[in-house]
Amino acid sequence: MISHDILVVGGGLAGLSAALAADTRLSTAIVSRVHPLRSHSVAAQGGINAALGNSPDEQDDSWERHAFDTIKGSDYLADQDAAELLCEKAVPAIYELDHLGVPFSRFPGGVIAQRPFGGAGFSRTCYAADRTGLAIVHALYEQSLRRQVKVYGEALVTKLIVENERCVGVVIYDLATGQILPVRARAVIFATGGYGRVYLKTTNAYINHGSGIGIAYQAGVPLKDMEFVQFHPTSIYPKNILVTEGARGEGGYLLNNKGKRFMADYAASAMELAPRDIVARAIQMEIDKGNGFDSEYVLLDLRHLGEKKIQKRLPSVREICIKFLGLDPAEKPIPIQPAQHYSMGGIDVNDRCATSLEGFFAAGECACVSVHGANRLGGNSLLETVVFGKIAGQEASRHLEGLERKEPGEKTLLDEALAERNKVEAWMSRTSGEKAHRLLNRLKLVMSEKVGLFRTKSELEEALEEIREIREDYGRVCLSGICLRYSQVLVNMIEFACMLDLTEAITLGALRREETRGSHYRLDFPERNDADWLKHTLITLKDGRPEVSYRPVRITKYKPEERKY
Ligand code: FUM
Repeated sequence: MISHDILVVGGGLAGLSAALAADTRLSTAIVSRVHPLRSHSVAAQGGINAALGNSPDEQDDSWERHAFDTIKGSDYLADQDAAELLCEKAVPAIYELDHLGVPFSRFPGGVIAQRPFGGAGFSRTCYAADRTGLAIVHALYEQSLRRQVKVYGEALVTKLIVENERCVGVVIYDLATGQILPVRARAVIFATGGYGRVYLKTTNAYINHGSGIGIAYQAGVPLKDMEFVQFHPTSIYPKNILVTEGARGEGGYLLNNKGKRFMADYAASAMELAPRDIVARAIQMEIDKGNGFDSEYVLLDLRHLGEKKIQKRLPSVREICIKFLGLDPAEKPIPIQPAQHYSMGGIDVNDRCATSLEGFFAAGECACVSVHGANRLGGNSLLETVVFGKIAGQEASRHLEGLERKEPGEKTLLDEALAERNKVEAWMSRTSGEKAHRLLNRLKLVMSEKVGLFRTKSELEEALEEIREIREDYGRVCLSGICLRYSQVLVNMIEFACMLDLTEAITLGALRREETRGSHYRLDFPERNDADWLKHTLITLKDGRPEVSYRPVRITKYKPEERKY
């Protein structure tokens, strides 16, 4: 049986950071759905925040100012001590990445270049042109090779194995062989990313079904603040490929069908660099008012930046526009619309990345510390992966120091894998029934139409009911005639149960939260309500049903006030 001290699930930036931070005396391995160089982290374009103060006129930036912007951007739902930890650790994290070989773009004097991003009072976003995620993943993957971290690629984790209230391993579906196997581990770290693919329009990769979040939930670990779903303002219409916020940071304008920079009506001071929740809603409102094009999109105009600057700072955006739209942004504005981009909520962890289940940790987008609260600032996601990924690796190692070296019973592990195998065999033995891909399309439609940028009680109630109906149909699904090797149908089928759980949690959290805060906009409760709702939502699976509870937000020195930009 495969056996390791620490098993990191996910080979993106949080997973690589965790594996590299684990104690070298321990045996650490990564199991990943795809090769690490194909993880969704590589799609991150615009940058990573740290208060380096490298911009010539902005040398008085500080991690405290970064923390303030993050907390204000979060609409005061972030736990303030956690946001402070993130921002304080940001500066050494960037220098560490620089020393590990990340090719950051530079200012003429040679220091790391920084550009403005939304909701930030300073030019604080470090970048490698518009391929920042790709550059960091490559550097960390090289380090993992140097450290000889074992990687099991193309293996989907289907279940956490728990014995005596302690996490002791996982079950995997090995795509190459079609086998379903147990993997023993003394500590497990989930770094499994987000769930963008439960929406029709998303900037996320096809692997982002969020099953890690669902697996944790099924093991009894609470999910936190799931109702907060980020929509990125600028995805290319109609493909929904990301156009980085860096494009607006470099000076791009948003224009409606009258040629007006409409952000003046929504955030007169910050304009295109207001936080994402505000810009995404503004774009959708313009479209809904009839000020868009074909009732679908508005324009992102970069022409005034000039070809040279676009090519130097935004080469991928230019290439993507040319290849996917046949349009050169140096010559024509880009059609854009909001699309799901990020999940602020996730597996409930403390600022040491520990969950309520002993031996089980989580970091990155699948986890909710919470540093982003109700709305994440652009550039804080890559930062979270490296800061909290590292903490997860260190903490899992520390956890093992105090743990006796007793191997968990082999029988538990084998039994759990067998149960998973039996489930798949039952699906395959049915000769008629529902098809998984049809159910997936229905679920995406419900989430997009009823749990999107704007929400109401009646639509959320309808969505909950429809999700529950889809769950019943899932019980009748048929997979006959498939080959178990590299079966995308089986992957979808396994992940679908998780998607049902997490969409139910998003919708239930959104229904219960009768206020508007950050990304959660209730048309029927359009104001923020600190008196009743300055608290985190926790959803726990109890006796097969979601149970909702709340936890106060931790405040240090930033008094919640109205956000103005
Ligand atoms: O717009 C972007 O480049 C995305 C950055 C982020 O989500 O942090």
